[in-house]
Amino acid sequence: MVKSNIVIGLDIGTTKVCVVVAEKDDLGKLNVLGKGRANSEGLQRATVVNINKTVDAISKAVADAERESSIKIKGVNVGISGAHVHCIYSNSEISVNQSGIVNESDVRRFLEKAKTNIRYLDIDHEIIHVIPQEFIVDDQDGVLDPIGMAGTTMRGSAYIVVGLRTKIRNIKQCIEKAGLEVNAMTFEPVASGLAVMKESEKKSGTVVIDIGGGTTEVAIYIDGAIRYSEVIKVAANDVTHDVAYGVKALNDVAEELKIRYGCAYSKMLEDDEEIMIDGIEGRPRKSFPKSSLTVIIEARMMEIFELARDIIKRSGYSDYLNAGAIITGGGALLPGTLELARDILGLDVRTGYPEGVSGGIKDAVNNPMYATVMGLVAHSLENNLYQDYGMAEPSSAPPPPPPPRTAPPASQQPEPASSGGEQAQEQQQPAGSKFVDRLKKFWDQL
Ligand SMILES: Nc1ncnc2c1ncn2[C@@H]1O[C@H](COP(=O)(O)OP(=O)(O)OP(=O)(O)O)[C@@H](O)[C@H]1O
Ligand SMILES: [Mg+2]
Repeated sequence: MVKSNIVIGLDIGTTKVCVVVAEKDDLGKLNVLGKGRANSEGLQRATVVNINKTVDAISKAVADAERESSIKIKGVNVGISGAHVHCIYSNSEISVNQSGIVNESDVRRFLEKAKTNIRYLDIDHEIIHVIPQEFIVDDQDGVLDPIGMAGTTMRGSAYIVVGLRTKIRNIKQCIEKAGLEVNAMTFEPVASGLAVMKESEKKSGTVVIDIGGGTTEVAIYIDGAIRYSEVIKVAANDVTHDVAYGVKALNDVAEELKIRYGCAYSKMLEDDEEIMIDGIEGRPRKSFPKSSLTVIIEARMMEIFELARDIIKRSGYSDYLNAGAIITGGGALLPGTLELARDILGLDVRTGYPEGVSGGIKDAVNNPMYATVMGLVAHSLENNLYQDYGMAEPSSAPPPPPPPRTAPPASQQPEPASSGGEQAQEQQQPAGSKFVDRLKKFWDQL
């Protein structure tokens, strides 16, 4: 089997399906070799509702990406999202092996136990990721990488992402019907975060808000790792529907109006103007003031950011977002979005574009809409999920050293497990320290 360094990301979004073929360049950046995109009509709020339409869109996007990259696509890292995906904190405790020095097999047992400790994971759900959070070796807490440490017991927590089996199966089915394999699945907020965040932001505390067509994903990163996430079922397509409803126009016209004249922040509107549109099916042309359009758009965008603000509060991390917020996804392109977000969230805000991209067609993906797909290829690269000639091998390279840990909120440290007692709590116990990259990698591959 010929080894390649090609990675493929597939984002099956509510409004578009896109595929990116990339490789790692000499500087470690993502060199984009090809991109394919197709309109998506088989999904509602990031969930497949029409298999055939989704398969067609995947096939078209894949064909375009293959043509552009001259790479035959076999396996993909696909994004998973939707309100059915949720996260659970699971605590675990194990005895360290007889040598008294923590080794990789201890960590594996620890994580396996965290996985099995989700007592109430019903048969309808399956695990998408298990992301280690915190290790406590004997009484030493805040351990980033426990391997090599002396101790007798090891406890801590993991962040477990689960989704509805049937909805995940539908995604897999669409990919297989399009003649591809699923190399990996990645929770979309994990991918978007990876694409748009700088390392400094990840460490100092950032919330990433991806406003897509059908869903808004909120993910909180503290001390280098994802700590909390939720998917909201209100997004940028709702803005379009509101415009259609408000000015009584077809959806396509409303979408055009939103993109051409739309603004999410009424305070930015200086001069009002009349906007003319054709009447539906031969009805007379009509006009309305731009300020009315802004009021409609602002109301829905406010709702999105208020829901995001509620999530941030619920997470318990609102005081720890030192770097502020990153707004990404197609919804971030609406003028006035940053200003509105800043007002409602009370955070410093910037727009999230995919980072660390090189190559001749990098401009083609330099758009918040492609944050997820670029994060999917970045995640594949991190995990050595190489494709092309059938490669999907775990890394043998040593992991980078973990960054220094900043002090987590004491109130949010996981409860120490009682002797032999493990527990799993849904979105309740944010952990306190940085992930160990290599553990995350091999756990993702389990
Ligand atoms: N220039 C623009 N100005 C304003 N809105 C835009 C612009 N371009 C795209 N959008 C909006 O972005 C949304 C699509 O965003 P995106 O491509 O991130 O969604 P998706 O990934 O298909 O959906 P989801 O993530 O919810 O499954 C649409 O509602 C579209 O109207
Ligand atoms: Mg999306």
